[in-house]
Amino acid sequence: MEGTHPNPVLAPLRQVGQQHGLTPLSSRLHEIEAWLGDDLRALDGAIGELVESLSQPDPRGQERRAAGHLLRVPGKRIRPLCVLLGARLGNRGLDGITRDLAVASELIHAATLLHDDVLDQGEVRRGAPTARVEFGNPVSILAGDHLLVQALQRIARCGHLTLLQDVLEVIDEMVRAEALQLARRNLIPEDLSVARKTYLEVVHGKTASLFRWSLEAGATCAGLDSTTIATLGRVGLHIGTAFQVVDDLLDVRGQPQLTGKPVWVDLHEGKLTWPLLTTLERRPSLHRELLDHPGLLVQAQARLRREVLACRADESTAAFAFELAATAHRELHTLPAGKARDALTALIDTIVSRVR
Ligand code: FPP
Ligand code: MG
Repeated sequence: MEGTHPNPVLAPLRQVGQQHGLTPLSSRLHEIEAWLGDDLRALDGAIGELVESLSQPDPRGQERRAAGHLLRVPGKRIRPLCVLLGARLGNRGLDGITRDLAVASELIHAATLLHDDVLDQGEVRRGAPTARVEFGNPVSILAGDHLLVQALQRIARCGHLTLLQDVLEVIDEMVRAEALQLARRNLIPEDLSVARKTYLEVVHGKTASLFRWSLEAGATCAGLDSTTIATLGRVGLHIGTAFQVVDDLLDVRGQPQLTGKPVWVDLHEGKLTWPLLTTLERRPSLHRELLDHPGLLVQAQARLRREVLACRADESTAAFAFELAATAHRELHTLPAGKARDALTALIDTIVSRVR
């Protein structure tokens, strides 16, 4: 990598490898960084310019500053990396179109977080007070709307109508998944196998759909054939699902100083996560008790936390994430070998070992 400052896109991922003693993974990420360094810096520059313009005082309203507040602290930027790697698989490097699509995927993600923190009453995100805490719920919603429009404008000007149509479907999937999750909040399911299906439906919609689109978008603008695009779409679905399963895991055993958000928030919000589902399956008497006294979900939080850890639901959640990663690897390895495939392979491994 040129220069000495850490790349905001891969540096957080590389730290994951180092913290876990995964030197081969961390050196693989160094290689990606060396190869994609210029693209990643251009991506960072494009988002940085937008943040700068969003941060200007605006007497007409606060929504742009609220959006800048979230974007100022970079996230992991995995979705834009998926766009770039999808394009690289088709030998297309960074240009105006791939950059716009990559930035758009990050802006859609940021928009959903601005809305999500209102739905979840989130207090802390990326180690800072959420936009809704700083600017209020209504402004956080408008900030999300603003970023969504910014993203759609970038996609529209790329000239691939199908990408615009696909992303509108993805947004619709996200909204429906969030609505389903909201409707099931604080409800203990009788049938756990149905509950697992509902869980996967929510996760595919709220998280995996955008990973899928990001890989497909890069591949589409690189002119790859429809079979390869479909394979990449499935890779995106699996890694996006693994990403959310790890998010559930970090909710029960993450380190807030690394994740930038507190633990046990999902349980507090009455969300049916993979660790909670696993606990209900492994503790039938607890499941029965919660069905008979649903109020316990709110009242017995400390006991529930102990049960989740005691029955090792965290370990089986991690194992599920690794299974999803293995499926993603198998799909990926049907595609031609090369640097882009290696980089995606390393990215999958990083997602499942992440601690932030
Ligand atoms: C975070 O999940 C939230 C999402 C992955 C998607 C949120 C989507 C919406 C609110 C609907 C679509 C909105 C727009 C603007 C298109 P989480 O709450 O499990 O994770 P967290 O712990 O990071 O909050
Ligand atoms: Mg949330």
